[in-house]
Amino acid sequence: MRTLISGGLVVNAAGSARADVLVEGEKVAALLAPGLEPALDVDERVDATGKYVIPGGIDAHTHMEMPFGGTQSSDDFTSGTIAAAWGGTTTIIDFAVQAKGTSLLATLDRWHAKADGKCAVDYGFHMIVSDVDDSSLKEMGACLDAGVNSFKMFMAYPGVFYATDGEILRAMQRAREIGGTVMMHAENGIAIDELVAQALAEGRTDPVQHGLTRPPELEGEATSRAIALARVTGAPLYVVHLSAAQALDAVTEARDTGQNVFAETCPQYLYLSLEDMARPGFEGAKYVASPPLRPVEHQARLWRGLRTNDLSVVSTDHCPFCFADQKVLGQGDFSKIPNGMPGVEHRIDLLHQGVVRGEIGLERWVEICSTTPARMFGLHPRKGVVAPGADADLVVYDPAARQTISAATHHMNVDYSAFEGFELTGRVEVVLSRGRVVVDRSGFRGSAGHGRFLARELNQYLV
Ligand code: URP
Ligand code: ZN
Ligand code: ZN
Ligand code: ZN
Repeated sequence: MRTLISGGLVVNAAGSARADVLVEGEKVAALLAPGLEPALDVDERVDATGKYVIPGGIDAHTHMEMPFGGTQSSDDFTSGTIAAAWGGTTTIIDFAVQAKGTSLLATLDRWHAKADGKCAVDYGFHMIVSDVDDSSLKEMGACLDAGVNSFKMFMAYPGVFYATDGEILRAMQRAREIGGTVMMHAENGIAIDELVAQALAEGRTDPVQHGLTRPPELEGEATSRAIALARVTGAPLYVVHLSAAQALDAVTEARDTGQNVFAETCPQYLYLSLEDMARPGFEGAKYVASPPLRPVEHQARLWRGLRTNDLSVVSTDHCPFCFADQKVLGQGDFSKIPNGMPGVEHRIDLLHQGVVRGEIGLERWVEICSTTPARMFGLHPRKGVVAPGADADLVVYDPAARQTISAATHHMNVDYSAFEGFELTGRVEVVLSRGRVVVDRSGFRGSAGHGRFLARELNQYLV
């Protein structure tokens, strides 16, 4: 099977050039000077005139079918990866969640069973370590052999995922030993739980209290502490879903000293704010995630962090819960609102607005959405670049098309959109996953089961 994508501007993190992209089988075979094309004998042609051809997006932070607070996130691996494909994301890295008292390898088996044969695009796993004990620490090495080398830990959620500083230290020592990366949910959960208890005792139960009881200072403090622990142990640290300027300051300072500290933010922190959590009725529950949305002034700091590379990646933290039957679990008690927001379908479009508005350049857009996550999580140069030999995960993107985000038209299995009514410039036109057209203007053309598990190599940014 040979496909030619002709007439487009090929945009890589390293630069842009007009070229025709020849795909053979699952791989990019060649980038050809424009105009050679008529002579070629191909099976399928995609006209990309006036469009960008970019490497498929890599969303390094999703939660499909994730158990949380007695329910589970509403996208399974099929609906979630189909939605990802619609939005130009051709790889997700999801989180296998160790339940307390179970082993890491058994956890990995369970997550393989959930995802195998179900995904429309390629996928990998990180491991959430809930139980830091001798056997889990030992098993981290076996996870590496199984293609999982990034381990998420929580300074939040006491009694659920929370790890003590001592446990974090031990896991970091182990990560350092084996070449793994620790991913940190950095919020001071002990202090937050006190604030939550006080709010509830005073009858403050609305969704906005979720934000008010998780102040940005407590994200900044936890981020600083995680950085100190990483420095002491020599382990690389990847701060997930960074939302607060205070946390960004800590990351910036660590990076300026040369420490292996990296961070991602998410579209919701770039575009939404605490005010959304204060919407009337129970509407604010749609915006409850942790860390919470911040006062609007944090947004400009995050955009600046993306420009300066103190923020290296934008992932979605896609963790959808339906409003009608899941978010409502927290009516009368904000602490029972399932934490998380949908977004896997719109990351690339939302970040493209950063290009339109002059916040980031075109190549930086590709770098943040695809190339850096590929390198950070050991998928490059197979993923994250349009180049001969790379997987033909390709997106034809129309930078001039207009669209309006709505739950009525999105493909995620959730009954609302956090970005409802957002008017965007730019739209995904055609998506290839390993050489196969999975989305075009006629609709979804892929299949559940096309997506393959990706055993990942080590973080390529480590010094
Ligand atoms: O609220 C969130 N972010 N839910 C997903 C789990 C996590 O902490 O990433
Ligand atoms: Zn988290
Ligand atoms: Zn998450
Ligand atoms: Zn539902």
